[in-house]
Amino acid sequence: MLLFERARSEDRRMLEALLWENGMEYADPIEAFMLARQGDDIVGCCRIEDYPYVAMVRPLVVAKAFRRKGVGQLLLEQILPTGKPIVIVARGESAKFYSAFGFSFTSWQVIPVHQTNECTSCPDRAECHPQPMIHRR
Ligand SMILES: CC(C)(COP(=O)(O)OP(=O)(O)OC[C@H]1O[C@@H](n2cnc3c(N)ncnc32)[C@H](O)[C@@H]1OP(=O)(O)O)[C@@H](O)C(=O)NCCC(=O)NCCS
Repeated sequence: MLLFERARSEDRRMLEALLWENGMEYADPIEAFMLARQGDDIVGCCRIEDYPYVAMVRPLVVAKAFRRKGVGQLLLEQILPTGKPIVIVARGESAKFYSAFGFSFTSWQVIPVHQTNECTSCPDRAECHPQPMIHRR
């Protein structure tokens, strides 16, 4: 059975491992992460960065063995705030997931500048095909 709850300090090692396996970095504070747990395992995680006019998903990761079972969608439903647009820079390969959730393609201008800068200088950009997307809730 899946359980969704905020991360605690003792989750840090397993959370970091899940993020690193997917080429993503851990960011404090740990309580900002919503986890999907199955038994003792963390099978997914999601964090939101809150800005005055938008909220940004950064990151959302589901463990490979648990994909296409609805975990990513459930994690977003647990954590997304209402009342402001939600933005994401999707890796090209995950754009279909965000489209299925109701996001649409948008311009880089609505993306917080630190994320745009990170993508601009990323050596994996050509392979990643980053796509700015937005969901107006
Ligand atoms: C993107 C990601 C979070 C999706 O999580 P998930 O739990 O597999 O997604 P869900 O099962 O909730 O998918 C919901 C719907 O999205 C769509 N979808 C999800 N993954 C898809 C894929 N690889 N290709 C096409 N459509 C996809 C489908 O419509 C799916 O519904 P269906 O399975 O009934 O057809 C997961 O693939 C992942 O962690 N990828 C690596 C990290 C990453 O790229 N994160 C996104 C940061 S930009």
